[in-house]
Amino acid sequence: MENGFQREREERKKMEGTVKNCPFRTNYHIMPPVGWLNDPNGLCQFGGVFHVYFQYSPLNVHGGGGYWGHCTSRDLFHWTYEEPALTTDIPEDRSGVYSGSALIEDGRMYLFYTGNVKLPGDYDYVDAGRISTQLMVESGDGFHMSEKRKILGMEDYPEHMTEHVRDPKVWKENGRYYLVLGARARAWDSEGKRRDKGGVLIYVSDNKKDWSLCREIVPEKAFGYMWECPDIFVLDGKRVLSFCPQGLEREKERFQNLYQSGYSLMDKGKSLEETFTEWDMGFDFYAPQTFEAEDGRRILIAWAGVPDTEQTHRNLSVKNGWQHCLTFPGELTFQDGRIFRRPARELENLGWQKAELENGRYDWAGKTVRLTAEGIGEDGWTARIGDGENALTVRVMGDRTELSFLDENGNPAKCGGGRGVRVGRTKGKTEQIQILIDSSIAEIYVNGGEIVFTTRIYLEKEERGLKVSGEGNCRLEVI
Ligand code: FRU
Repeated sequence: MENGFQREREERKKMEGTVKNCPFRTNYHIMPPVGWLNDPNGLCQFGGVFHVYFQYSPLNVHGGGGYWGHCTSRDLFHWTYEEPALTTDIPEDRSGVYSGSALIEDGRMYLFYTGNVKLPGDYDYVDAGRISTQLMVESGDGFHMSEKRKILGMEDYPEHMTEHVRDPKVWKENGRYYLVLGARARAWDSEGKRRDKGGVLIYVSDNKKDWSLCREIVPEKAFGYMWECPDIFVLDGKRVLSFCPQGLEREKERFQNLYQSGYSLMDKGKSLEETFTEWDMGFDFYAPQTFEAEDGRRILIAWAGVPDTEQTHRNLSVKNGWQHCLTFPGELTFQDGRIFRRPARELENLGWQKAELENGRYDWAGKTVRLTAEGIGEDGWTARIGDGENALTVRVMGDRTELSFLDENGNPAKCGGGRGVRVGRTKGKTEQIQILIDSSIAEIYVNGGEIVFTTRIYLEKEERGLKVSGEGNCRLEVI
């Protein structure tokens, strides 16, 4: 068991200098200490301290898993890196300690996750060769973990499920415990062609140890072939199902990324597909998870990345031994029938200083930036982040916001690593926009969080310019 943790420590030490000196390291976002990071896991506030665990591959910058990384914070923006909390050390999780969640109860933390096994051999890993086990560990402090305990196995899933069943999110309601899992059901279309359907399984328990299936949700008509990272919570009295469907066909201004993440309202008398709304319109957003802070706020953190995108775009930090980060924590509220996401209010306490645009320009090298424009007029508003042609353009016009890394001839800018264009629309006119830039990540909140764009951007320090044009009251703050 010590072995895995030892290897992580050695790798971290070996790469420390290279990683630390990388110009793309952020100031306030959670990153892998070395190697690769993906989904946020086990999000919670425990005795005042925020704990974020994450899918972590210290030994391979291109992923592969193996660990739950761990960091803590008192304010959601300054993070301390802790020793990893979990690694693969029992037969049930030998190919991966996959995603999961935390439940806090009576001063104890309970973590639920999927142990993944891929048997060596010639398997498709859908119908054969994969074992997905749901496991639980307990902790009195968030750092030291109990023995792992199996709570659900292949024998507990419905017959028509494939072997893809994972990512337990657990909550307590009316004295009982509930656990939702993402799943892929075997299905065939009218011509007899295999066409799997994504869905979720909901289990119930009275003691967190013995679970029985209480509901299965698989839509009539397929809405993607697999749903990952489900989350169920109540926001302003409305029950929300958040999930990550894979296999949705791209539409012009919807589902622009390879895999999606969004939410549906569960109590609307409408199908989940009908109310499905994307969480984010940018290039880099997947596997969000929410938790309730001690003061009752519903906070969301996501991976600022998407699986399997190596072919379309890249993260230029790979050469320095690391890639990916998590998003800023966002506060969720219900407004006009949909969920708004704003940066957690602790952002206000970071010590922002007013800065001035000179002739509409600012040089932000080394600084974290917040640019706000209000009262955007008919003629629209534009910001360019970068240097000359090597820039990201954020264009607002009417109800439409566009992020573009392309120049006038349609060539992608170096700082986008292959990223092109993303579009989002607000219900009415777009009047307000807030752009947060922390080194290599930009998060753009439109109309107070009605739509949000998350994107990575790789500018060298000397390339970090900012240019604004168009009508609207602009405020620039930096730290
Ligand atoms: C989503 C995901 C999860 C899985 C984890 C493995 O990005 O594929 O479904 O638990 O990543 O790292």
